Amino acid sequence: MGGAVSAGEDNDDLIDNLKEAQYIRTESVEQAFRAIDRGDYYLEGYRDNAYKDLAWKHGNIHLSAPCIYSEVMEALKLQPGLSFLNLGSGTGYLSTMVGLILGPFGINHGIELHSDVVEYAKEKLESFIKYSDSFDKFEFCEPAFVVGNCLEIASDSHQYDRIYCGAGVQKDHENYMKILLKVGGILVMPIEDQLTQILRTGQNTWESKNILAVSFAPLVQPNRNDNGKHDTVGLPPCAVRNLQDLARIYIRRTLRNFINEEMKAKGIAQKAPPKRKRRRCRRRRINTYVFVGNQLIPQPLDSEEDEKMEDDNKEEEEKDHTEALKPEEPPRNLLREKIMSLPLPESLKAYLTYYREK
Ligand SMILES: C[S@@+](CC[C@H](N)C(=O)[O-])C[C@H]1O[C@@H](n2cnc3c(N)ncnc32)[C@H](O)[C@@H]1O
Repeated sequence: MGGAVSAGEDNDDLIDNLKEAQYIRTESVEQAFRAIDRGDYYLEGYRDNAYKDLAWKHGNIHLSAPCIYSEVMEALKLQPGLSFLNLGSGTGYLSTMVGLILGPFGINHGIELHSDVVEYAKEKLESFIKYSDSFDKFEFCEPAFVVGNCLEIASDSHQYDRIYCGAGVQKDHENYMKILLKVGGILVMPIEDQLTQILRTGQNTWESKNILAVSFAPLVQPNRNDNGKHDTVGLPPCAVRNLQDLARIYIRRTLRNFINEEMKAKGIAQKAPPKRKRRRCRRRRINTYVFVGNQLIPQPLDSEEDEKMEDDNKEEEEKDHTEALKPEEPPRNLLREKIMSLPLPESLKAYLTYYREK
């Protein structure tokens, strides 16, 4: 699936296109998408394709198209402090974006069939925490991933406020998924070629809404063990934070608020610097679909209008190029600077920065 939005040159460009095409509609979703570079979840050598609205598959690693993730993030209606379960959590790209909205008092769990993919997700998460400045701009709910078949979750497992399933669900498993949800919770999953949002309205009542026609690879069915039974998979525990960790969260929050107040007093906007003017984009009209691997890719219709838009884009690109030649100031990490300037032992500063590299 995907391909309905123009290709971007970088992550911001991709997000601009998703926003203009109305796939991204809320500020918190937009901020999460901008904070996580989709290219970081690609293998070296494949990154150039990361800013196209296309799914990507390499061995067991599989990312859905950006337009799908945008619809999913919007449909989940995420709020700080909620619990989230990602079934088929893959590279951890979606779970990491979700963690930026859930904040430090949420729960963020993922279950993935392939152990090599869970290893990949853990490496990506570690480099996000260690090197990305976005980590210091947000309060983060770190995802915990386990290896297992999500159709074998123990029946006494805890329930979640929000659930997403990243692979196609058979009708037979619809109830199994719905039961994992708390009353008042929201489940988003592809079922019968529709991305569907399900709200649990009561102990035995649910409301469903189709969001988008999609084509997903199906969930892998569980194998029976030697006794002819299914194994059960345990989800990560819902651990309570220790006092030291809580103190770090509150110190960082206090410093961040202090920095924001300081900036406001100086009249300096805290918003991201104005981006260069983006190319005009709109939802392309689709006249045909082709199969690429196991995904249906829409093919846009060419028209005179599209050609005119191309000419306008070229002109704007030339202007962008001239602007890009102007020297840019390197982005500052004000929270890190503030922590490093505190009269504290180095070990405490390292703890407060999560031992992050510069
Ligand atoms: C489209 S990918 C999801 C990618 C993910 N949303 C991300 O952010 O990277 C679907 C994932 O579901 C996993 N999967 C398929 N069947 C599964 C099952 N029964 N249990 C757990 N994971 C499964 C696949 O291995 C794959 O990683």
